[in-house]
Amino acid sequence: MENINILVEKELRDILKKYDYPRSAILPMLHFIQKKYGSISKKDVEIIADLIGINPTEIESVLSFYSMFNTGSSAKYIIYACSNISCEFKGAGEIITFLENRLHIKVGQTTGDGKFALRTVECLAACSHSPVIQINDIYYEHMTIEKMEKIISEMEK
Ligand code: FES
Repeated sequence: MENINILVEKELRDILKKYDYPRSAILPMLHFIQKKYGSISKKDVEIIADLIGINPTEIESVLSFYSMFNTGSSAKYIIYACSNISCEFKGAGEIITFLENRLHIKVGQTTGDGKFALRTVECLAACSHSPVIQINDIYYEHMTIEKMEKIISEMEK
């Protein structure tokens, strides 16, 4: 999955600008991506390495050293459910519970067939459209359980 879009890349560049020594930005950039998406993909690693101007293997060695980084899932559909306050007020908790029951997994797990992985994220930066769910790189806003069921059913086909 390709986590990084143009806006996120701009935010990564802003983080990088704060450091005189570009390698010092590796951990803040990885934390930023993980906070935003719940995991760090191979593509994310390549983009960060490219921005810093180093080999991706250097980022990979950082990732393998620190256990707090989630290097992602190979699931076909990675569902990122925002669980932050705006979304929580509008029913994110019920949607997350629905997804857990519907997919027979808990947050952080992947279905046995490798089709769906469920993650929660702190904020998808679309609070005025809450509750928000991101599946791979697509945002679904003003989510309801009915809409979620429809999306999951389509993806199961
Ligand atoms: S709180 Fe959910 S998108 Fe910001």
